[in-house]
Amino acid sequence: MHFLSFLTVSLITLGSAFVLPGTTPQQTILPNHYLEANKRQESEAQSEIPFGVIITHCNIPGVVALTFDDGPYIYTGQILETLSQHGARATFFMNGVNKGNIDSFPELVQRAVNEGHQIASHTWGHASLDTLSYAEIIAQMTNLEEAFLRILGFYPSYMRAPYLMVTADVLAAMKALEYHIIGASIDTKDYENDDPEHSWRSFEKFRAELDGGGTIVLAHDTHRTTVEVLVDNMISEIEERGHEMVTIGECLGDPPEYWYRDGR
Ligand code: CO
Repeated sequence: MHFLSFLTVSLITLGSAFVLPGTTPQQTILPNHYLEANKRQESEAQSEIPFGVIITHCNIPGVVALTFDDGPYIYTGQILETLSQHGARATFFMNGVNKGNIDSFPELVQRAVNEGHQIASHTWGHASLDTLSYAEIIAQMTNLEEAFLRILGFYPSYMRAPYLMVTADVLAAMKALEYHIIGASIDTKDYENDDPEHSWRSFEKFRAELDGGGTIVLAHDTHRTTVEVLVDNMISEIEERGHEMVTIGECLGDPPEYWYRDGR
């Protein structure tokens, strides 16, 4: 938009400079082009992925979307390193306040974006949304938007409800705020097996649900064993099967310009 305005102004200026004596400047064609371009942009500026609908599977074949909830936290950096070593991309569903406070980890949020991962919303305070009023649900989303605006200058259009708790009010609120709701088709339950002796249980659940056609994997970057054991095992398994590890937006075929907004 800014670029087009600049271009139009430049062309008009240029055009005026070359008007021959005795002729009328023919500038009208340029604003028309500008309006046409704007109209085209408006009609295209809409993700094809629906808002306010729960999505649990990828749309494109041969990919797995690893997702990590509840961060940013002290273990998030190690996950970023592991993902980077394997050329894997993932999605982080972040809270404002959970085990950590997002304003304590701005560099991790920015780094995840810089390294090709997707940032999404997991609400401000991780409350179970069925316990909140419609207005409180909206506030849970918009408060975190403010934090993302402070840290990144934009905020996500994807979210996952805490505890996957989605009510009619949640669907309506996410539709109103234009959020894509992401569920999971592989739930590692890594929080139940958060020690090296039991992590295999989460890994076996992951493998079984992968066998069953699951593609969106739910784990947490707030659990030490997830970061130190489970993630490495999951990545090895995915690599062995020849799948690519991509972000949620990529796995749905949604172009990156629709993953974030910079205002309402
Ligand atoms: Co959570």
